[in-house]
Amino acid sequence: MDSILQDALIYGKKYLPSGKVANYIPELAKADPSHLGICLMLPDGSTYQAGDFQVPFTMQSIAKTFSLILALKTAGYETVFSKVGMEPTGDCFDSIVQLETKQLPPFNPMINAGAIVTVSCIKAQDPFEEFLALVRQLCFNNTIALNESVYLSEKRTGMRNRSIAYLLQSDQILEGEPEQVLDQYFHMCSVEVTTVDLARYALILANDGLDPITGTQMLEEWIVRIVKTLMLTCGMYDESGEFAVKAGIPSKSGVGGGIVATTEQGMGIATYGPVLNQKGNSIGGTHMLEYLSSKLNLHSFASKTYTAV
Ligand code: DON
Repeated sequence: MDSILQDALIYGKKYLPSGKVANYIPELAKADPSHLGICLMLPDGSTYQAGDFQVPFTMQSIAKTFSLILALKTAGYETVFSKVGMEPTGDCFDSIVQLETKQLPPFNPMINAGAIVTVSCIKAQDPFEEFLALVRQLCFNNTIALNESVYLSEKRTGMRNRSIAYLLQSDQILEGEPEQVLDQYFHMCSVEVTTVDLARYALILANDGLDPITGTQMLEEWIVRIVKTLMLTCGMYDESGEFAVKAGIPSKSGVGGGIVATTEQGMGIATYGPVLNQKGNSIGGTHMLEYLSSKLNLHSFASKTYTAV
């Protein structure tokens, strides 16, 4: 496995020159474009890593999987899915077009509009505190914390998200005050993790909510089923269809450069590489996952005799 991950890294690195680091949030532009890393965990707890797997990065849109879990746990299925849909959009992650043309509610919890509504559904005295507690619990790391400078940078420059939240308010979709909900959303995006943290979380998702290392049921199965389905159909924005065909691994990306991925075989994988493609997905990360899918036969719909194309 070590040598397969090294090969995946070499393969992923070849694509780095054709993308660029996110710069619409000024703090993210400081990331080192040469970084690329991966962590993979098997159900028996064995852990494999390669490259810059220990470099911390902010979750960004990967936070959307945790906020969905928290909303489903605290508000329930009916409430959440009366406010947000389950359909892929084919539009970019921060698109406003469907709100303006009144195709409401927002298509799914993995795009910004849907995630902002999902965050507004969370029933908790302090939603961010609960969110952070959930992240720490599912990543088995109590030191996970907010990256204050990314949070402030995002809050200062997040005008598109502001537009989305106010449009949602004007159509009576948003629960609560836009600025308050946005502040929660910006906090959640700015939580800092490593691939090791996210691979541990992915291991739980991959095993239907049961942590195979401790034997503890960490999440209810129905919640995990929803989250993984939406990861497969919507987790890579307007590249979700192509990524589902090529890699076939339920995954969620973030513009911080992370991708969290859960396999049918019960593996948890996370990648980090801040150079993004035009759709906002880590270019090295997507290629490493495609490589592993083909090498290890990880495609969700692959037959036993699957051969890579
Ligand atoms: O809302 C934003 O713009 C960011 N905090 C998160 C977006 C994101 O990660 C999209 N990713 N691919």
